[in-house]
Amino acid sequence: MSKIVVLGSCSIDYVVETKRQPQTGETIEGTAFQKYFGGKGANQAVAAKRFGGDVAFVGAVGKDEAGKQVLANFKNEEIKTSFVQEVDAATGAAVITIMDSDNSIIYVPGANHQIDIANFSTVFEGAEVVLLQLEIHKEIIMQVLTYCERKGITTILDPAPSEFFSAEMFEKANYITPNEMEFSEIAMKLGIKEKELLAQNPQKIIISKGAKGVSYVDNGIEVNVPAEKVEAVDSTGAGDTFTGVFAAMLLEGSFDQAVKWAVKASAISVKAKGAQTGMPTRMLLESAFK
Ligand code: RIB
Repeated sequence: MSKIVVLGSCSIDYVVETKRQPQTGETIEGTAFQKYFGGKGANQAVAAKRFGGDVAFVGAVGKDEAGKQVLANFKNEEIKTSFVQEVDAATGAAVITIMDSDNSIIYVPGANHQIDIANFSTVFEGAEVVLLQLEIHKEIIMQVLTYCERKGITTILDPAPSEFFSAEMFEKANYITPNEMEFSEIAMKLGIKEKELLAQNPQKIIISKGAKGVSYVDNGIEVNVPAEKVEAVDSTGAGDTFTGVFAAMLLEGSFDQAVKWAVKASAISVKAKGAQTGMPTRMLLESAFK
C-alpha cells in the first residue's frame, strides 16, 4: 500500500483557551474556542506526509459530518484512506484546554474504537514503517505489533494514553516515543528505574521533553537533542509531529538524522494553534534550518 502506514485515531479537537483551570463545580470564562483536526494517528500521518513520506492511514470515522470533514482533510493532505472505515458511531473527539501554550486533553474514542482489521496482509502490504498510538483498542495494537515483528516491518509506538500501555507492547515495538510523564508511568508499569530502562534500551526509547527537545541512550551515553527556541502558542500535536517526521526520515537516513529533523519539525509545529496547523512541509523545514 504505502511505505508508511499509520494505524490509529482520527478526531476533531474542540479547543478551549483559558487563563486558568476551573475547580470542580466552578464556572469560569475562557478566552477562545476553536475546532481543529486531530487524533494522534491522523496527526502523525499528516506530519509524515508533509515531510514527504508515502503515507496511508488506517482507522475509522463515523457516518457523521465530522467524519466527512476528517476524510476530506486526509484527501487534502494526499494521505491514502482506502482502509478508513465508516462506522455506526460518532467520529472521535478530544476536548482540549490550552493554558500558557500547554495542553490537557480528554479524549472520547467513538468510531476510533470500532476499527476492525480483517486482512493484515492487504493492509500492510509494502509497509516499511508502521506507526501506532494507544487511542484505539489495545488488542488491535498487539495483533499488529505481532504481525509486524513476524514480517520484519519497523514499528513505532507512541504510548499515549499511557494507561493502556503494556509490557508486551514494549517487548514487541521497535521504537517507543513517550513524553516525560508517559515515560515515568511506563517505567513504573515495567517495575524498573527510569535510568535503567533507558540504559537497557539504546535507540529504542526516545523521550520528548517539550521545549528541551528529546533524549535517548546510545552506546551507553544519554544523548540530548535540544529543540530550537521558538515562540510557542500551542504544544498540541508536537509529539505527533516528532513521531511522524521521525518515521519518514528513518526511511531515508540514520536514526540520528531522523531524530534531528523530527526535533526541528516538532519545534516549528508549536508556533501555530491546532495540532496539525503548524506542522511544517519538508521545504519549509529545510529552509528554516539551512
Ligand atoms: O497528541 C495530540 C492529540 O491527542 C490531539 O490532536 C487530540 O486529538 C488528542 O487525542
